[in-house]
Parts: sequence; structure tokens; C-alpha cells
Amino acid sequence: MTAVPASTGGAAPYGARHVAIIMDGNGRWAKKRFMPRAFGHKRGVDTVRDIARAARDMGLEALTLYAFSSENWKRPADEIADLMGLLRAFIRNDLAELVSNNTRLKIIGDYQVLAPDIVDLIEDAMARTAGNTGTTLAIALNYGSQQEIARAAAKAAAKGEITPEAIEAELDTACLPPLDLLIRTSGEIRLSNFLLWQAAYAEMWFTEVLWPDFTAAHLREALEQFGARERRFGGR
Ligand code: IPE
Ligand code: IPE
Ligand code: MG
Repeated sequence: MTAVPASTGGAAPYGARHVAIIMDGNGRWAKKRFMPRAFGHKRGVDTVRDIARAARDMGLEALTLYAFSSENWKRPADEIADLMGLLRAFIRNDLAELVSNNTRLKIIGDYQVLAPDIVDLIEDAMARTAGNTGTTLAIALNYGSQQEIARAAAKAAAKGEITPEAIEAELDTACLPPLDLLIRTSGEIRLSNFLLWQAAYAEMWFTEVLWPDFTAAHLREALEQFGARERRFGGR
């Protein structure tokens, strides 16, 4: 993996370099409209596109989006198939824009076990955007933070030392700046196995807004509130 970038020269809006979002509430959004859950997921992808553009326009260094957890395999097969279909379509349709606007795509999580054609699409997309120097869009796929930490600890042990620094260097997020702000939509107040290590000193922002209704204005509101907070990191 590449080293942590010092700064890509982004504007660091309100002092934030790295924002992560637990994109939740697609199913409830669809249910309110008497529509199938797949409709909510489809609108959720539109929001991903909008928020990725907003992050780039604001000059964020990194945006990490929780798209599919290691526990989401518990869902019915047809819903999993819908989500994988949307993922395929997203990478196929949006790659050109990512390349042309200098966005670097990164996947965190154990994506290698996904369908072979998706793995190929992902690896092609990462290779084609690897040299981009703008915002990094990190998408968490088959991601579970406990699994990530266990993998990282095993790698650190194999190299001889298990220290916080050694584990951190082996996390999937090692090539991203430190996490500043963690957002969750849909009113749920929990982490659902997302970025447990990285969130140690991140600020948290929870909103009742369902993910398909989340806009750039909500992201800006979260960043504004982040900018007004005092981060102490244990000091005084
Ligand atoms: C988030 O929406 C998308 C994924 C977890 C893939 P949900 O599908 O969890 O929507 P709700 O929570 O049922 O409303
Ligand atoms: C977390 O949402 C996972 C993603 C957003 C991808 P879930 O909807 O799966 O979380 P729980 O089950 O409500 O905790
Ligand atoms: Mg949910």
C-alpha cells in the first residue's frame, strides 16, 4: 500500500480531511413510498454520486462510504443480488467521471470474495484511478471492522510486533488520512462494525435523514458543526 499522503492540497473544509458515512435508511425510504427496497437502494446510488461530487468540490481528501457490511450477507439473496447489480453498474457507469475529475477509487474490506467479474471491475477501476491526486473515494465492501483489525494484527504479528502503530499500518485504511468525522443517516445510533479502530478520536454526527434524502447541504451542515467542535485527543 502507498504511504499516508501528507496533504493533497485539498481545502480541508472546516478542518476536515477525511469523512466517513454509514449510508443507512434505503429500505425505510422505499417503504414510506410503498416501493420495493431495491428502489431505495437505486436512489441511494444517486446519493452516492451526488455526495462524491460534493466531497470533491469541497476539497475533502478522503470520503469513505459503507456500502456493504460483512453482516449484510444475512439479508435475503434477492436483496444481495440487487445490491451487487447496483455496484456493477456504478463502477461501469461512473468510472469515466472518477478518472476525469482526478478522484482515486479505493476499496476497503474483503472484496476479493465477491463475484469474479466484480473483483475484475474493482481492480481495473482502482488501477485506472491510482495515479489521481484529488479526493480519494473509499468504498467499504464486505467490510467488517473487527475482521479488519484481526487481519491487521495477524500481519503485524507476522512482522514481529503487535503495537498500535504496527496494527494501524496494516489496516485497510492505512493509505487514508486519519478519520475526522463519522456520519450515520437514518436515526440509528450505532457503528455496525464500521471503522471501530479509526473512530477512536473521530467526531460523530447522526441525522434522522434517510440516505436517499441526504444532500450536499447536509454534508456541509455536518462539516460546519464539526468545525465548531473542540477536539482534545485526551489533552487539555
Ligand atoms: C442501507 O440501507 C444500505 C445497506 C445496508 C446496503 P438499508 O438497506 O439498511 O435500509 P434500512 O435500514 O432497512 O432502512
Ligand atoms: C450498516 O447498515 C451497513 C451499511 C450501511 C452498509 P445496516 O442497516 O446493515 O446496519 P444494522 O443492521 O441496522 O446495524
Ligand atoms: Mg439499515
